[in-house]
Amino acid sequence: MGIFGQRKSLQHSHGIDEGKRLAKTLSWPHLIALGVGAIVGTGIYTLTGVGADRAGPAVIFAFAIAGAVCACAALAYAEVATLMPAAGGAYTYTYVAIGERLAWIVGWSLILEYSLACSTVAVGWSAYLVGWLKAAGINLPEALLSGPHGGGIINLPAVLVATIIAGMLIAGTRESATFNIVLVVIKLTALACFVALALPAFNAGNLEPFMPYGFASHEDGGAKRGVMAAAAIVFFAFYGFDAVATSAEEAKNPGRDLKIGIIGSMAVCTLIYMLVAVSAVGAVKHTELAASAEPLAYVLRTLQHPVAAWAVGLAALIALPSVILVMMYGQSRIFFVMARDGLLPKRLSTVSPRTGTPVLITAVTGVFVALTAGFFRLDEIAELANAGTLLAFVTTAASMMVLRKSAPDAPRVFRCPAPNVVGMLAILGCFYLFLSLPGLTIQRFLLWNAVGFAIYLLLQRLRARVVAVA
Ligand code: ALA
Repeated sequence: MGIFGQRKSLQHSHGIDEGKRLAKTLSWPHLIALGVGAIVGTGIYTLTGVGADRAGPAVIFAFAIAGAVCACAALAYAEVATLMPAAGGAYTYTYVAIGERLAWIVGWSLILEYSLACSTVAVGWSAYLVGWLKAAGINLPEALLSGPHGGGIINLPAVLVATIIAGMLIAGTRESATFNIVLVVIKLTALACFVALALPAFNAGNLEPFMPYGFASHEDGGAKRGVMAAAAIVFFAFYGFDAVATSAEEAKNPGRDLKIGIIGSMAVCTLIYMLVAVSAVGAVKHTELAASAEPLAYVLRTLQHPVAAWAVGLAALIALPSVILVMMYGQSRIFFVMARDGLLPKRLSTVSPRTGTPVLITAVTGVFVALTAGFFRLDEIAELANAGTLLAFVTTAASMMVLRKSAPDAPRVFRCPAPNVVGMLAILGCFYLFLSLPGLTIQRFLLWNAVGFAIYLLLQRLRARVVAVA
């Protein structure tokens, strides 16, 4: 057993799925739809404004950089996900390839990723709701629209949407493939309308100066600025593609379909994001964009398209909650797998006989998500979610490289092209993005994991004592 702790065997990671082969019904267009459905959300609808604040018009670059890093991570993800199509994602891969202790840290970071991503989407959703109601002449009390950081008491709409989704998950709601297609169409049509209306208003003057805060991330007036600082936050817009990687079993021709599905959804999203970003920063001054909590609707209103602004706001209101649903579901499954592996108290993995869902875990997650969404700032929670995700991506890429050496003959449904180059690009890219995050985010992330590791050691000691007594 090395410093990373014992490893779970590759066979064991398959165990739970044995005997339950899923029908091979998906080909690459389905996989692209699945990926785009899980990926497009608050990242593009809201964080475009925060990105413009960090990088100015060069937020367009930031999307390209984050997209390229994610594409490398996604390829590594596809290889390990098909090698062990078990629940738990990066946590399970790390447990098999590297060891229990690092797997715990990854699992603990994934909790941060999934729950804070839900909170971020809830806060973004709340801003679109407020803007949408305001346009209809309905003004909600300011004190209930933001936490103390924004001069209010609580962001009530964000708390409500998070609570409702947690309730739906507890009751057993899952997103169906057909519903996903409908939401993808709504989300993409809204973005296409945005581009169609905003691009003709393109004014090259708005792009001057293109990179007002330079490239590297640096402190500037109390915030991190520069293209990399923006990339470190708009990175949020790209994750969710694990949905594609984990459908490997259902792909008709996994080797081909997964590659096209993953690269395709990354390429489609990067292209759409860059088009949206070019249209937004070309239509209004980046400083105006930075000041809006619902930037896409704001641009359309400024361009005198109130009906389109209303429709884009409505699309965000309808489609964003599904991103929360998918992420909160993922979160409860991470907790679940960690508890089943014995790293968290088994009681947490109890499934209600009535609903068939892990009620306690989902309720704990729902409360955590609602509280962070109710009281914290959008950019702070998005950045912390990104920190957790970046660690998961690094360990997934490392797991792929380790398993190529330790299990070279294991049957690989999908093989990442140039694994060492792609793996290293993913690791170095994620590391650079991580270092571009604000210092406070990095400190909070380390603190979260220090507390997590202390809990791990405590639980291990308790477990050893129970075993010794028995
Ligand atoms: N990529 C997802 C979003 O942007 C998390 O909402």
